[in-house]
Amino acid sequence: MAVQISPSLLAADYARLADEAAAVADVADWLHVDVMDGHFVPNLTIGVPVVSALRKHAALPLDCHLMISDPDRWAPDYATAGARNVTIHAEASSAPVRTLRAIRSAGARAGLAVRPATAIGPYADLLPELDMLLVMTVEPGFGGQEFLDLTLPKIRQARALIGRHGGEIWLQVDGGVGEDTIGRCAEAGADVFVAGTAVFGSADPAAAVKYLRSAAAAAAT
Ligand code: DX5
Ligand code: ZN
Repeated sequence: MAVQISPSLLAADYARLADEAAAVADVADWLHVDVMDGHFVPNLTIGVPVVSALRKHAALPLDCHLMISDPDRWAPDYATAGARNVTIHAEASSAPVRTLRAIRSAGARAGLAVRPATAIGPYADLLPELDMLLVMTVEPGFGGQEFLDLTLPKIRQARALIGRHGGEIWLQVDGGVGEDTIGRCAEAGADVFVAGTAVFGSADPAAAVKYLRSAAAAAAT
């Protein structure tokens, strides 16, 4: 299972998104785009028009994390706008099977996210509909929060569920992932690492991505 790094633009300069994306284009695997609606989470960020614009100016594929109350209505639009991955929250979706299928039909990978207090067991039957499972390692809504160690058992449980299911489903972690915590996540079985502050809060974002990748790879082996 190869390590993938998805720098989160939430910690970037929103007035210079194309430049910030270019800073990690040669070293990262994805660009993580946090979509927040001020309802599912208290914070408010960007929507489809910005994703559409970014798609034209960013070399890396876009990994859209929808922290919105009505993903069933909006998720396919992000895929149509050019996102290569669209992740919806289990807690917000009323019809996850339909929405995950709609994301795939629109040409993107389909992801399902769970908040720190949401159990993954009830979603085990959805694995065939998924390309990625996202275990949130902070309460979603803000960057720069402290990593929650209480999520580590769930990362292990998710890895075991995915292993039993077979097939290739990626396991992403998001929130508080940095040089002090990425090893724990990789050891627990995560393979796609979102990092905002640890990358764009650093003086050298590209070097930060390289460091995180090597730390994750060392811990995973
Ligand atoms: C938080 C977002 C994250 C955020 C992570 O709700 O989903 O993607 O950017 O930021 P850091 O890496 O700073 O914790
Ligand atoms: Zn995110």
